[in-house]
Amino acid sequence: MRIGVLASGTGTILQSLLDADLPIVVVIVDRPCAATDRATAAGVPAEVVLRSSYGDEFDRVAYTHDVVDVLARYEVDLIAMAGFGTILEKPVHDAYPDRIVNTHPALLPAFKGWHAVQAAFDAGVKVTGCTVHLARLDVDEGPILAQEAVPVLSEDTVETLHERIKAVERRLYPAVLHELIEQGA
Ligand code: GRF
Repeated sequence: MRIGVLASGTGTILQSLLDADLPIVVVIVDRPCAATDRATAAGVPAEVVLRSSYGDEFDRVAYTHDVVDVLARYEVDLIAMAGFGTILEKPVHDAYPDRIVNTHPALLPAFKGWHAVQAAFDAGVKVTGCTVHLARLDVDEGPILAQEAVPVLSEDTVETLHERIKAVERRLYPAVLHELIEQGA
């Protein structure tokens, strides 16, 4: 099994995967970010597929093909999303059917989208959590592989809540990926 990780942010979820002795062969980022340094420090090649535009003119399908080309070059057979900030199009789902795993910082199907923690916080829920699932073309859809609840505390801010959720993701996500590998995913 050869895993490619897609990340955009601080890369703490990526770090948990790098620390978990998973067969990660490449990390792909869409912008300059700390995830690149984490990959390099772990001796894993980091590839930047730069997202050149955030406007209407962004060619999402062409961008997706560029990402798939890099994944193919590294002979990746399982993709792990770790906070990747660009929604990818159909070509990646065609190339990797049931082979894209994502972690989401809420209990799906509640609070889909990029601002899931803020949305849960604003809704005043007392319990939220995280979900590891197979990704589909529709964002934050797909079969759920694992979930874990995280209580919302009265003193929480969005930041402290997200940090507690991420602490769970950093344990749950590598464990699920190890299980998938054992099952021969
Ligand atoms: C995680 O909460 C993940 O679920 C979400 O983005 C966050 C990434 O965190 N999609 P980090 O940048 O790895 O710390």
